[in-house]
Amino acid sequence: MLKLLLASRNAGKLREFAELLPGFTLVPWPADAPELPETGAFFQDNALQKAEGARAWWQAHGTEPVDAVLADDSGLCVDALWGGPGVLSARFAQDLASYTDRNRRLLAMLPEGADRAARFVCVLACVPLPGEPFTVSGAVEGTLAFAHRGSQGFGYDPIFLPDGYDQTFGELSSEIKHTLSHRARACTALLQKLHR
Ligand code: IMP
Repeated sequence: MLKLLLASRNAGKLREFAELLPGFTLVPWPADAPELPETGAFFQDNALQKAEGARAWWQAHGTEPVDAVLADDSGLCVDALWGGPGVLSARFAQDLASYTDRNRRLLAMLPEGADRAARFVCVLACVPLPGEPFTVSGAVEGTLAFAHRGSQGFGYDPIFLPDGYDQTFGELSSEIKHTLSHRARACTALLQKLHR
């Protein structure tokens, strides 16, 4: 079974990767490892930056061999906010402790009658060891709900209504989310590349 080092401490992402990549042994980013910088303007830049940073750190400090390093850069892009919070999704409204409050603030930024179209985007950067880095991506289109609804998932899930559903990702089960999410689609593309 291939062993993947996951360059993330985001518990929501880690849970989803365990469900989306059942055929892999996932090694979580260690608690004593440094925070990985993500200073790019695009999801792809940040995903590659995190994957390369993780590879370099693991080569010097890793405790076990891994077959590849995987990094996820993802976020919610809202048309009425010029694509924001986008790559800044993890840093949006960080003065607020809970995602319930952050989601309320995000919804309050939309003027009445605004276009509520939005999409979740996920770029995965993979560095096979040995091998050349590559990226794959996935997206899911939808609209912003008028209020935070549901407690499934994580982050912005409770305010995102995927196209074709009346429930938010916060209300839908993870099984349904995994049939259409940005991360699930990126994982499908990743599996195609790895098994080619
Ligand atoms: P980053 O990729 O570490 O920059 O963080 C991505 C951020 O986007 C997360 O912290 C969440 O706020 C948000 N995000 C990404 N994917 C999802 C998702 O599947 N559901 C809800 N929020 C997400």
